[in-house]
Amino acid sequence: MTRPLTFAIPKGRILDEALPLLSRAGIEPEAEFHDKKSRALRFATNRPDVSIIRVRAFDVATFVAHGAAQIGIVGSDVVEEFSYSELYAPVDLNIGHCRLSVAEPTGLADEDQAAMSHVRVATKYPHLTRRYYEARGLQAECVKLNGAMELAPSLGLSRRIVDLVSSGATLKANGLVETDVIMQISARLIVNRAAYKMRSAELSPLVEAFRAAVGVKDAA
Ligand code: PRP
Repeated sequence: MTRPLTFAIPKGRILDEALPLLSRAGIEPEAEFHDKKSRALRFATNRPDVSIIRVRAFDVATFVAHGAAQIGIVGSDVVEEFSYSELYAPVDLNIGHCRLSVAEPTGLADEDQAAMSHVRVATKYPHLTRRYYEARGLQAECVKLNGAMELAPSLGLSRRIVDLVSSGATLKANGLVETDVIMQISARLIVNRAAYKMRSAELSPLVEAFRAAVGVKDAA
């Protein structure tokens, strides 16, 4: 028998919205998946041909790009940051809506931005950040953080941050203002391109099930 498909699901906020979609697409994780105390990382589902792994969002893209998982759910921020050629993102899942934004301490906007050629930015998204500033003729020196970017300005690590914003509460609580939106984000179904060709009999119906679950005919 072929090995079950491995479906990579991100931990964190998307998970709560992703579970009803998975269910509508016909996939129900085993009970242990919902047990917060469980240290297991790989889970069976109601379908013998599909197992689930639960990993960090950035790692969903890495597992799927390398073919270690064949299919996954991840934000379009992560898809864009990596721009792996092996990732195919056929369905916009219309969940996990947020934006990638530039933020800075209140009042910083007064400095002479026209005279600047270089900015220092704390972010989990160095590629998207450099691309954004390059388009504005500025060189961005990115300080890579994996979370809590909002601390960077008050501790002198960088004046600006580029991070995800949803309600804006985290920025506000840390004395920061959003100065520009780099991109709007939603979660995508991603598939490994090689697997999609070689295991299309299994993966195509799954992709179609997600399209139907989201209620869209076609999303590129
Ligand atoms: C994200 C993001 C911000 C926050 C924004 O972090 O990095 O810190 O949410 O949300 P808000 O605008 O509604 O306040 P998350 O809580 O997902 O955790 P993380 O730092 O582990 O990514």
